Amino acid sequence: SSVVVLAGGLSHEREVSLRSGRRVAQALRGQGLDVIETDADSTLVDQLERAGEVVVFPLLHGEAGEDGSLREVLSLLDVPFVGAVASASRMTFDKSIATRVIADAGVPTPAQIALPHETFRELGAASLVRALGDQLGFPMMVKPAKGGSALGCTKVTSAEQLPAAMVAAYAYGQVAVVESFVDGTEITVAVIDRGSGPEALPAVQIQPESGIYDYAARYTAGRTRFICPAQLPDEVADRAADTALTVHRLLGLADLSRTDLIVAADGRPYFLEANVAPGMTETSALPLAVEAAGWDLGTISADLVRNAWE
Ligand code: DAL
Ligand code: MG
Repeated sequence: SSVVVLAGGLSHEREVSLRSGRRVAQALRGQGLDVIETDADSTLVDQLERAGEVVVFPLLHGEAGEDGSLREVLSLLDVPFVGAVASASRMTFDKSIATRVIADAGVPTPAQIALPHETFRELGAASLVRALGDQLGFPMMVKPAKGGSALGCTKVTSAEQLPAAMVAAYAYGQVAVVESFVDGTEITVAVIDRGSGPEALPAVQIQPESGIYDYAARYTAGRTRFICPAQLPDEVADRAADTALTVHRLLGLADLSRTDLIVAADGRPYFLEANVAPGMTETSALPLAVEAAGWDLGTISADLVRNAWE
C-alpha cells in the first residue's frame, strides 16, 4: 500500500501547502514508504481509485483542506486518512465557532465578535467602529473567520484603521471576527498522537523580526526567531501544554494539531486558534517542535500513517 500526500489545492495557502507536502513526502520516503504526491483537483477521486489501497496524508491548508469538505469526500470513499474527521475539522477551521466552544469550556480567549459582511453593510462602517471600539477597545485584531497563514489579518490600533481592516478580512470570506488584542508571549503547541494518546510537544515561542507574524514573517527564512522550548516558567509551559491538549480534545481533533496561544502577562495562555493541517514547511513550528522533542519528522509521519491504516 502507498501513502498519498495531498498538497496544493486552490486555497490562498496553495504555495505553503506545496512546501508542506514536499517536506512530509520526503520524510516518509526516508522511512521506506511508497509515496504518491498528489495535487487536489477535479481528478482526485479518479486518482485515488487508480492508486488502490492507500492512506491519505492531507496537507492542504485553508479551504477544502481544513474546512471539512475534503475529509468528507475521503470518508465517503472509505479512504483512511491522517488527522481530524470532517465535522471536527469544520468546527476548528471556523474561528467564530472554535473560539466559542473553547471559551464555553472556561479556557481564556480574547473577547470576540463575529460580523457577517451583510451586517457590516447594513450598519455601516461608522456605527460599527463606535460599537466595536466601545465593546473591545484598541488595539484589536481583525481576521477572516475562516483562513490561515495570517492572510487578511490586521492589528488595528485606532478607529480610523478599522474599516479598511474589515474590508481586508472580507476579501477572504463572508464573515470577519474582531477580537480584543491580547498582549504577551506568542507561542504555539503541537499535539501528536503516536498511537498511545495525544501528547503535547514543547511549546515554540515566536518572535517575528517586524513584531507581526504575518505571511512574510511565516514563510521567509530568517524573518522570525523561533525558540523551542519557549522561554517560560515551567508552570506556565505546563499550563500551555494542558491548554493545547484540552483544545485538541474539545474540538474532537485526532492524530495531530497545533494550537496557537498568547501567554498574557498574568501567565495565562489565551486560545487564538487551532490548526488541523499545521504547516510543515522549513519555517513552520510543528517540525521544529518535533526535533526539539528529540523525535524525527519521518518517524512521526510514518507512525501517523500506520495508525490511520489500522
Ligand atoms: N495555516 C498554516 C499552514 C499553519 O497554521 O501552519
Ligand atoms: Mg491557522
